[in-house]
Amino acid sequence: MKQITIIGNGNMAFAIAQGLSKEYRLQVVGRSLEKLKEFESRLGVEVEIVSDYLDTSFDISGRDVILAVKPNNLSSVAKSLSGKANSLLSVLAGTTLLSLKEKIEAESYIRAMPNLSASFQKSMTSITGNPKDREFAEEIFSYIGTTLWLDSESDIDIATAIAGSGPAYLSLVAEALADGGVKAGLKRRDAETLVHGLFNGFAPLIENKKASVVKDEVMSPKGTTAYGYSALEEGRVRTAFIKAVESAFNRAVELGK
Ligand SMILES: NC(=O)c1ccc[n+]([C@@H]2O[C@H](COP(=O)([O-])OP(=O)(O)OC[C@H]3O[C@@H](n4cnc5c(N)ncnc54)[C@H](OP(=O)(O)O)[C@@H]3O)[C@@H](O)[C@H]2O)c1
Repeated sequence: MKQITIIGNGNMAFAIAQGLSKEYRLQVVGRSLEKLKEFESRLGVEVEIVSDYLDTSFDISGRDVILAVKPNNLSSVAKSLSGKANSLLSVLAGTTLLSLKEKIEAESYIRAMPNLSASFQKSMTSITGNPKDREFAEEIFSYIGTTLWLDSESDIDIATAIAGSGPAYLSLVAEALADGGVKAGLKRRDAETLVHGLFNGFAPLIENKKASVVKDEVMSPKGTTAYGYSALEEGRVRTAFIKAVESAFNRAVELGK
């Protein structure tokens, strides 16, 4: 069985471990034996646990390593690593390939940006880095959802602004639609059930048709959708979303400096 090392035992590390555990023998590195054991028991698969490495050092020589700690943990983790990894795959938001290279030694570096849906193996993950490892990185992150290879780190920052922040934006849409239903007289629970069903059914629609086609197919002359849609345009919702992506992108660039 192939082997891979995950550094970190938080939410993203767990989602990735869940995706990989059928195909890979996992080695999980963390600072608390208790949390690592709990991680293993929740996963339901035996993993090789490495704990307390902070006081000694963990040799990553020749290993494929997924780094899944918080960005501000990078320096302290790096100090406890020795050797040169085969490949380093980082999911650290806003952490550039250059800062990874400065802190951890590896033959090849990959930066990936998954999103919250990883916990359901439905992440939209953008990836960039050494093209030599493209296939390997796409394979690894395909276990937690869909992947998109991008040619530059600047594109990753834009992707972060769409798919990384996206679950928050779409949650706003979901909550607002349910609020609208409640305002019109529906019970909250019924309004929320409608919204969940809507999002579920929308996923295959948007995957198979362009957004403008879906809109045109729903909208009929003088119909309900045409009236609702025009209210959204009056509220400048389209402009607000474009600005949201632009602002999030600018912030990602700022954080990466
Ligand atoms: N969650 C998401 O949706 C998402 C999306 C995109 C990217 N990311 C990225 O994924 C990374 C992890 O996020 P998360 O949501 O999984 O955070 P999290 O649940 O807080 O997990 C962070 C983990 O890092 C561990 N850690 C901290 N210092 C460490 C050290 N020195 N050695 C080993 N492990 C250490 C923590 O260990 P303890 O348990 O001992 O504190 C914790 O388990 C972040 O860089 C984030 O930017 C997350």
